[in-house]
Amino acid sequence: MTGSAVRRTPGDRLPDFPWDSLAEHRARAEAHPDGLVDLSVGTPVDPVPPRIQQALNSVADQGGYPTTHGTAALREAVVGGLARRHDVTGLDPQDVLPVVGSKELVAWLPTLLGLGAGDLVAIPELSYPTYEVGARLAGAEVVRLRDGEEPPAETALVWLNSPSNPTGRVLDVTALRASVAAARAVGAVIASDECYLALGWEAEPRSVLHREVGSDHTGVLAVHSLSKSANLAGYRAGFVTGDPALIRGLLATRKHAGMMVPRPVQAAVTAAMAEDDHVGEQRRRYAARRELLAPALRDAGFAIEHSEAGLYLWATRGEDVWRSVAWFAERGVLVAPGSFYGPSGGAHVRVALTGTDERIASAVHRLRDSA
Ligand SMILES: Cc1ncc(COP(=O)(O)O)c(C=O)c1O
Repeated sequence: MTGSAVRRTPGDRLPDFPWDSLAEHRARAEAHPDGLVDLSVGTPVDPVPPRIQQALNSVADQGGYPTTHGTAALREAVVGGLARRHDVTGLDPQDVLPVVGSKELVAWLPTLLGLGAGDLVAIPELSYPTYEVGARLAGAEVVRLRDGEEPPAETALVWLNSPSNPTGRVLDVTALRASVAAARAVGAVIASDECYLALGWEAEPRSVLHREVGSDHTGVLAVHSLSKSANLAGYRAGFVTGDPALIRGLLATRKHAGMMVPRPVQAAVTAAMAEDDHVGEQRRRYAARRELLAPALRDAGFAIEHSEAGLYLWATRGEDVWRSVAWFAERGVLVAPGSFYGPSGGAHVRVALTGTDERIASAVHRLRDSA
């Protein structure tokens, strides 16, 4: 073999793609006479609002390069939208940076911040797998923190995620403040993944940039996605904002690396952040699905924990997770095993609210039949 054939790549540091291990259960669920109800991933099933589609199309004739920083209109629309929707005020449009879906930023933030061997990235005990992926791509190590646990001294980056994927747990203002203070105490950057901020059900989620958490944004970043609030998962649309110095640094590197959002998507983000009707409409759809699914799960013997916000129901029957996954698959319903999100998720399943109304009704019917 040549030298290049045996060279290690960053990919060697990554775990196996967990979804592959669901293949057998997927096949089982697909064989159900009424078809598969896939509640295993948080992918939107509802259409992109027409106004956003038009915005995407409106610049389709423009062949020049887009800017990495995004148009001024996009950055102003983001600042306006965060103020109206989440009461986040005082942001400078200069400090907004569009990203190619928030997963891209999550996966590359440690690298873009210059983290590497010897650095620690702190992530919630149960969390979105890409936080760990991002740390490993940079060559850093991961530490999983229990609720309220303080990051170790070598921590260079702390990820917060409220509402949480997978648990739906919300960090209140006191918990957010404490997390920011603990990260600052060890000199770590705080990145708050606020992908599900618009989906509060029994709690009102707060942004880390809300003034009640603190008006000093030094070392703090908020990461947002339009995938769930505006059904733009397919467009790959998100943004990061917060500490001006950190945003400047990210922008400088991203310019060199070609990490820019296509112009049509920038136009779509601008339209999506400029008004809120579609966010309310989507919220109502998910709320209605949650109202149907939650009692059906309970009647089938599952306890629902946390889940006060976000796109998922975090459910357990106190049994091994693969037993629960198999039980759902026999009924044609595919759910995600909690173990995908951390070793302590081994008795829970994550049930997404992302089925069409027809599919959710079918799932509820099947669960009730077997209750
Ligand atoms: C917690 C969390 N962060 C980030 C993302 C990535 O979203 P996107 O890349 O579509 O913006 C997801 C997707 O499900 C998520 O659950």
